[in-house]
Amino acid sequence: MARHLITSALPYINGIKHLGNMVGSMLPADVYSRYLRQRGHEVLYICATDEHGTPAELAAKEQGVPVDAFCTDAHHQQKAIYDGFNLAFDYFGRSSSPQNHEITQEIARELKANGFIEERSIRQVYSIADGRFLPDRYIIGTCPHCGYDKARGDQCENCTRVLDPTDLIDARSAISSSSNLEVRETKHLFLLQSALAGEVEAWVDERADNWPVLASSIARKWLTEGLHDRAITRDLDWGVPVPADTWPDLAAEGKVFYVWFDAPIEYIGATKEWADQDPANRDWRSWWWESDADVHYTQFMGKDNVPFHSVMFPATLLGTRAPWKKVDVIKAFNWLNYYGGKFSTSQRRGVFTHDALDILPADYWRYFMMANAPESDDSSFTWEHFTATVNKDLADTLGNFVNRVLSFSKKRFGEEVPAGAEPGDAEAKLGEEIARLLAEYESQMEAIQFRKAAAALRALWSAGNSYLEEKAPWLEIKTNPEGAALTLRTAMNLIHLYAVVSEPFIPTSARKMREAFSLENDTATWVTPDEARSLASVPAGTPFTIPPVLFAKLTDEDLESYKERFGGESA
Ligand code: MF3
Ligand code: ZN
Repeated sequence: MARHLITSALPYINGIKHLGNMVGSMLPADVYSRYLRQRGHEVLYICATDEHGTPAELAAKEQGVPVDAFCTDAHHQQKAIYDGFNLAFDYFGRSSSPQNHEITQEIARELKANGFIEERSIRQVYSIADGRFLPDRYIIGTCPHCGYDKARGDQCENCTRVLDPTDLIDARSAISSSSNLEVRETKHLFLLQSALAGEVEAWVDERADNWPVLASSIARKWLTEGLHDRAITRDLDWGVPVPADTWPDLAAEGKVFYVWFDAPIEYIGATKEWADQDPANRDWRSWWWESDADVHYTQFMGKDNVPFHSVMFPATLLGTRAPWKKVDVIKAFNWLNYYGGKFSTSQRRGVFTHDALDILPADYWRYFMMANAPESDDSSFTWEHFTATVNKDLADTLGNFVNRVLSFSKKRFGEEVPAGAEPGDAEAKLGEEIARLLAEYESQMEAIQFRKAAAALRALWSAGNSYLEEKAPWLEIKTNPEGAALTLRTAMNLIHLYAVVSEPFIPTSARKMREAFSLENDTATWVTPDEARSLASVPAGTPFTIPPVLFAKLTDEDLESYKERFGGESA
């Protein structure tokens, strides 16, 4: 069994995330982690809030609170929502932690010692109206590549290119909107990525073939555009300070590291936060030191994050010359749209994670999002599609099956799994079908193809329905009660199988299904296709109860009320 390190892109601290953020990072990482744990692997799933940089400063300013207090509060708010979604992080840290400060500074020192960080004077945008330099998001303008007129100083949201603030056309201050800007000379640290380009390219070539294609194609495209040296410090109050022992001048000027320098390092930092909570039993370096070659590291993220993770963060780690563990597989996602347009945090367009949980439990969202994950293309959220999927897959195919089987059996045979006849041809055929679908499900999960995995899971649920329709125990009981008992016992075994294998997607409902049976020693965390074939893990005589309705059917009125509350097509 391997040791799996799993991280999802760190959500920015400012603002509650929308479903598009969730489906492209934390949720798939959670589903994958749960699956691997169930298969008996040792898993460490790490995430954190990404707290530094201009977004945090701007949001705190807007609320009129100190930035550290703002971040503490926002961190807890986000964490509560992720708990609500049942995201089973091993640790959810904060990039502002002392651990991250320490490791970020250590890595910067190593890069300097190896000649990959250099101090350079640059000309930077200074806002006369605001009395300060304007880094990154403090400056807005037109993208020189695609013409988008609200591009930020660090990246164009529209074409995803990384920018420097001085690239922007018609630049203005995000604080005051003033365009009374001038360019002044100031010193910053530069990461000499150009000197690492060859190594990074070789590194990408070695592994990107094993990545799902979206990530590898973005990484390759990025490399062909060339790796340029990049400023890794900023003039901000909030961030990891440049260490005074190494750069006394810059430290005295109060420079901090650029958020995209310290944020990925927080994957390591948060692992140390986790270990520091129980130092006797947890060893963070054993997850991050390459000599521990048995660790397999998978990262989850939206496509805009791929350049930073496939090229820049590896360049940072390679340049330290220390054996930091680097990513093995990057799984990237396209955008989830809302009625064909963008989800937008700034325009409050779409469904936000706290509102989602306010209307329906997590499993509804988890299943819908993963079954429609924007893997090969962008995908679109509509309330029509959401309610139809919930009703068909969750309420009818799965929920109704569970309820129908257990209720009917209780009515006719009492509160224990009935004995009845020995399995016959129909059961053998069903067993083959289940084994085949389960093998398909496993292989899609291993390939990290969630849509296809969800389709296989749905097919497993459907196979139960087909079997039940074919055997029709409600008719069978009239002429052949022994046969009807066999049918119900077999169907109950399917329910137990569903409980085990559906857990990565719908953990709460899976637990309810499992708890329906009072099985002794029900410790199996997985069922292999071979074990599934015999459909005999719940023996006759096992007491059971009927769980409350697993998934409520959504009505036309529900649909209308969601559209009204969140804005349907007209949004
Ligand atoms: N906060 C960034 C975003 O939302 C992601 C940071 S990922 C990290 O796009 F690795 F840099 F932390
Ligand atoms: Zn652009």
